[in-house]
Amino acid sequence: MINHSSSLGSTSTSGVESAILLVGGFGTRLAPLTHKTPKPMLKVAGIPFTEHQIVKAREAGIKEIVLATSYLAEVFEPYFGDGEKWGIEIRYAVEEVALGTGGAIRNAASMITRGGPVVIFNGDVLSSHSLRGHIDFHQSRSADVSLYLTEVSDARAFGAVELEGDAIRTFNEKMENPPTNIINAGCYIFNREFIDAIPADRVVSVERETFPGLLHHGASLYGYVDRSYWLDIGTPAALQNATRDLISGAAQSDAYELLLRSGSHELRSDSLIATSAQIATGADIRSGNYIGVDVIVHSGAELSGCIVLDGAVISAGTKLDSSFIAEKCIVPAATIATSNFLGF
Ligand code: GTP
Repeated sequence: MINHSSSLGSTSTSGVESAILLVGGFGTRLAPLTHKTPKPMLKVAGIPFTEHQIVKAREAGIKEIVLATSYLAEVFEPYFGDGEKWGIEIRYAVEEVALGTGGAIRNAASMITRGGPVVIFNGDVLSSHSLRGHIDFHQSRSADVSLYLTEVSDARAFGAVELEGDAIRTFNEKMENPPTNIINAGCYIFNREFIDAIPADRVVSVERETFPGLLHHGASLYGYVDRSYWLDIGTPAALQNATRDLISGAAQSDAYELLLRSGSHELRSDSLIATSAQIATGADIRSGNYIGVDVIVHSGAELSGCIVLDGAVISAGTKLDSSFIAEKCIVPAATIATSNFLGF
């Protein structure tokens, strides 16, 4: 049993105690996985992705989180409730019609009860970035808004940033010839008045409208560059890599550490396997798999880089590579699949 609320050893002294988690996107690139499950609730190393972020926020001293929901909004609250289980206050801001990233931040901020700057997380970035380091940076620079930045080899699909020292000079969302390889890595700290200045009740993109507008009006935007592990989990291959990287230790997550300590899962054959799963002696479990609660894997099955959700049955002689297997899906004998979705 996971003790969700047990801390890995931190308390807040920073005065930054509130966060908004953007979890309302459609996750179209992850279809069909996102037909019934919103992207932020898909499992990474056996844990809904949002849970990794909630525990990360708590460990950095955050006390309250508003989940900004829209698509499949009803899925979040039954799982997270009021957050007591995680030792953090959780509330839900539901957008009847998706308001975009900026509109979602503005809408969710009305449910924040504490003063001080607010941390904003995209709901789809796995990173080892130091949130405490970012908070200290924000305060030491007296920033209005600060952005976590990282460096990638190809910045075209992201928001590229030009810096002068730590100060952001330009913000360039998704373009063919980005001016730098330093990109918006999907976590921001906003002083509260800069959230209240976002227009209410209409669609606003923080990337296309708010950041360029703030720069135009001379606000002090700073970039906290952290080149440690960073991954946008927005595609099926990236989602598998996230699990693989947590298993190998390339990526870190406090929630994953707590899962391992709970004894409900163990690492075997470079895979993460629920202790209740039944793996036949003759099954060949290769690296990078997640094998969920009560899964049965029969003799002669071969699994590599797969995500096998709770209660699935993998029959004899199957060969599955880099595939997703839905909850309780019975995969027929001798099935061969690569980069596939079974039972969704
Ligand atoms: P794709 O459709 O595959 O691009 O994914 P997405 O819908 O999640 O979009 P994107 O990756 O650009 O979104 C970045 C983050 O913002 C994700 O965590 C989304 O859940 C979130 N997000 C995007 N649009 C909205 C919105 O209108 N409202 C809310 N609440 N969150 C949003």
